[in-house]
Amino acid sequence: MALRQLIAKDFRNIANADIQFCSQWNVLTGDNGSGKTSVLEAIYVLSHGRSFRTTKLQKVIQHDCDELTLFARIDWSMQQLALGVQRTRSGEWLARLNGEAVQRVADCASVLPVQLLQPESFRLFFGGPKERRQFFDLGLFHVEPSFYQTWLQFQKVLKHRNALLKSRQGYNEQYHYWDLQFVQLSLQLKQQRQRYLHLLRQAILPLTAQVPFLSQLTVDLYAGWSEQGSESSAEQHLLALLQQNFSTDLKFGYTQIGPQKADLKLKIADDAVEEILSRGQLKVLLFALKIAQSNVIYDSGFKQPLLLIDDLASELDDDSKRYVFDFLHKTQSQVFITAIEESQILPLLSMQSEVGVFHVEHGQIKRTDNDGRR
Ligand SMILES: Nc1ncnc2c1ncn2[C@@H]1O[C@H](COP(=O)(O)OP(=O)(O)OP(=O)(O)O)[C@@H](O)[C@H]1O
Ligand SMILES: [Mg+2]
Repeated sequence: MALRQLIAKDFRNIANADIQFCSQWNVLTGDNGSGKTSVLEAIYVLSHGRSFRTTKLQKVIQHDCDELTLFARIDWSMQQLALGVQRTRSGEWLARLNGEAVQRVADCASVLPVQLLQPESFRLFFGGPKERRQFFDLGLFHVEPSFYQTWLQFQKVLKHRNALLKSRQGYNEQYHYWDLQFVQLSLQLKQQRQRYLHLLRQAILPLTAQVPFLSQLTVDLYAGWSEQGSESSAEQHLLALLQQNFSTDLKFGYTQIGPQKADLKLKIADDAVEEILSRGQLKVLLFALKIAQSNVIYDSGFKQPLLLIDDLASELDDDSKRYVFDFLHKTQSQVFITAIEESQILPLLSMQSEVGVFHVEHGQIKRTDNDGRR
C-alpha cells in the first residue's frame, strides 16, 4: 500500500500543493517553519480526521480561508483508491472514498493507516498507560476485525455502569445486569489482546535483539485487573473483583478495573524501561515498537501503515540513528521523514532504496532528486 499523490489546499501554510510520492522513502527537507510537519499533518488528518498538533481542527485551515481540502491517491493491492476530505471553519467534515460519502472516520484510517513518530511521541508513550493502550489497540484494530465491535460494545456497558456509579446508587439488580456483560466483554477483549501481544512480541524481539541496550527487553500486557487464582473461573474471578471494588468505584464515580485500564508492560530485566533507559534509548525503543507493529499489520493482510517520522535526527546520536535505519530497512512500509538537511538522512539509506527528496519552502513543495536516483 502506498500514498502516491497528495493534493493539499489551504492547509496551514500550504496554499496549494500537488505532490507525487515514492512508494518507499520520502524525505522532506527545509528550514524551520517551512511546512514539513504540515505535510505529515495533512496525511494524518486524511487518515484520522484530526490533527496530532491541535484538538481544534479549524486551526489547520489556512488563515483567512474558509475551508481546507485534502485529496489522496492510494495504491491498494491491485487497485487505486481516491480519498478526499474537506473541513470547513464552521466544523463540517466531508469525506469521500472513490466518490462515495464516508460515514465513519474509522473508514479513512482503514484505507490509509498511518503511524506517527514525532519528538514528543516518546515522552507521551513512556509517560502513562493511555498512549501505550492506544498504540496497542490501533494494531489490534487492523489485525483483529472483531476487536472494534467488541470494544464499542464494552464502551457502552462501561458508560452505563459509570452512569449508575455517578448517580450514587448502591449495588442493585441494574449493576448486576451490566456487570455480567462487563465480564464477558472484558474477557473477550483480553483474549484478543493476548493474541495480538504474541504477534507483536514475535515482530519486535528480532529487532531489539540487535541493540545492546535493548537485548533483554520483555513485552507483556496488564489486562486491567489482577490475574485469577486457580480456584475460580476467569468469569467468577473478574465478577468477584468488581464486587470487591464496588465501594471504591462508588466513591470515585467510575469503574477502576477492566480492559479500559490495560497497559503494555515493557521491561529490561526487572525494571520498567522508562526507569532505566535514557531519552535517546527510549526513542530507539519506540521506533522498534512502531516498526514492529507496522510489520505485524503488514503480515496480517495488505495494509501496511505509512510511517510518518517528524524530525528524526533530533536527540539521536549516530549509533542510535543507525539502529533506527536498520529497523526501517526491515519494513515494507512507505516512509515519510522530515529533516532540516538531506545530509542528515540520505547517507543512512541503502543505495538500493527508492528515495524521493522534497524541498519545502514557505509552504511550496518541490521534488529535488532525479526521480529516485541518487
Ligand atoms: N492556519 C495557518 N495558516 C497559515 N499558516 C500557518 C497556519 N498554522 C501555522 N502556520 C504557519 O505554517 C508554517 C508551518 O510550519 P511547520 O510546522 O509545518 O514547519 P516545519 O517545516 O515543520 O518547521 P520545523 O523545522 O521548525 O519543525 C509555520 O510557518 C506556521 O507559522
Ligand atoms: Mg516541524
